[in-house]
Amino acid sequence: MEISFLLNGTPVTLRNPPVTTTLLDWLRDEKGLTGTKEGCNEGDCGACSVMVHDGRHVRALNACLLFLPQVHGKAVRTVEGISGPDGTLHPVQAAMIDHHGSQCGFCTPGFITTMAVNHLNKVQDHDTALAGNLCRCTGYAPIIRAADAAHAAPVPGWLVDDLSQLKSSPQTRLPETADELAALYAKEPNATLIAGATDVGLWVTKDLQDLGPVIFLHRCKELQQIEIGPETIRIGAGVTLADLMQTLDPFHPSFALLIRRFGAAQVRAAATIGGNIANGSPIGDGAPALIALGARLHLRQGETRRDMPLEGFFLDYGKQDRAPGEFIDAITIPRQAGTLRCYKLSKRFDQDISAVCGCFNIVFEAGRVVTARIAFGGMAGIPKRATAVETALMGQPWTQATIEAALPAFAKDFTPLTDLRASESYRMETARNMLQRYFLDLGGAPVSVLEVAP
Ligand SMILES: Cc1cc2nc3c(=O)[nH]c(=O)nc-3n(C[C@H](O)[C@H](O)[C@H](O)COP(=O)(O)OP(=O)(O)OC[C@H]3O[C@@H](n4cnc5c(N)ncnc54)[C@H](O)[C@@H]3O)c2cc1C
Ligand code: FES
Ligand code: FES
Repeated sequence: MEISFLLNGTPVTLRNPPVTTTLLDWLRDEKGLTGTKEGCNEGDCGACSVMVHDGRHVRALNACLLFLPQVHGKAVRTVEGISGPDGTLHPVQAAMIDHHGSQCGFCTPGFITTMAVNHLNKVQDHDTALAGNLCRCTGYAPIIRAADAAHAAPVPGWLVDDLSQLKSSPQTRLPETADELAALYAKEPNATLIAGATDVGLWVTKDLQDLGPVIFLHRCKELQQIEIGPETIRIGAGVTLADLMQTLDPFHPSFALLIRRFGAAQVRAAATIGGNIANGSPIGDGAPALIALGARLHLRQGETRRDMPLEGFFLDYGKQDRAPGEFIDAITIPRQAGTLRCYKLSKRFDQDISAVCGCFNIVFEAGRVVTARIAFGGMAGIPKRATAVETALMGQPWTQATIEAALPAFAKDFTPLTDLRASESYRMETARNMLQRYFLDLGGAPVSVLEVAP
């Protein structure tokens, strides 16, 4: 396998590199580019952030969760390549000095690369865009001030040059079409599929697993398509959460807001919706929202295709209805459902995994419940519908009395676990409170921490 990419404006070609070497290790160990720091090595701190241009988007990504083949055909800039070739500082670097945005400096390269990406993309919501970068000494106010101060400065020419050079990148043998992927996976059904590597990366960096044969999905453009039809939205399995968040905002704003709480910008830029479903996590955030929407899952194995309601895919803890050599092709959701609401409860607002994630999609006619789809993450070994609660609500008037009458049904649907994120009783109480919250939310009451923030 040959991997070519631009590194700080210079073409690099690697022949047969170990495919699960992370970009972070390669930069530091092979290239001596030690400006990119290793903090957590699991996507949580942003110290390893690099700028990656893929021909469509320029995004900050965590180098600790990027395997080398994932940067093939892309332009990577590390902190060493953010300033100009003659040493001219990037506006965000100058602003960080002016506003005293650095103390020990360990986090600073990651902030600089992320801020340079945000500057290029004209992003002004720095609280959201920098939530994946942790600083333990400076305090965030000077950093945000620096980002604001640099905002209006023009993008330096040396970063713009990457865009034109990218077009000449050569081909590789990574699957480029769904047909190629299907054929390759059918031939090698024991291979590990790697999409964004935000889960699989940790199997290597934390569990020290040898993955054996792998198939990378990130070059397969068909898997990254979103088709918006009159009734449905078909989302390719390889669509990143960053792209999905943008697409869903006009249709299902509450789902988009849930995605905003998914990891941080660097994670959302890499993680795919297909990976989020396929990992079968009982605390993944995508599945409860999709199940509440009545999503259908499209699977493919060689030339054979099938589809099913998403809730049928999760059989048991760690067990999904997926045959060897079969991959997730896409997910289809309806465009309607103005009443979908998604509530994520986690210990921190940003960059945290759910203790409980509850998603509600109830339709009314003449003040009575005519359809109810409610799904939870964190309440069972799989993402699961609250069918007893749904039954208790069906046909009833949408009143406080109906909500209260439905609460005991939660005990029929769920026997949650106690673990480090939450106790059984806390989870149960939270889930019930989420139904109450939904009732208040649809009634127009402020229910989000963002609405009550000063
Ligand atoms: C810092 C951090 C924060 C996170 N925060 C959240 C969060 O808030 N909420 C949340 O739900 N998750 C979170 N995650 C988990 C993870 O980011 C998501 O599950 C993500 O969507 C996985 O997608 P991926 O493309 O990176 O998958 P990968 O890591 O590439 O793959 C995950 C699994 O899916 C399989 N797979 C991938 N694509 C396909 C396909 N098309 N067909 C079949 N199998 C496939 C892989 O073989 C693997 O088993 C977080 C992870 C990190 C590191
Ligand atoms: S080292 Fe912490 S996110 Fe990569
Ligand atoms: S300056 Fe020390 S961690 Fe940010």
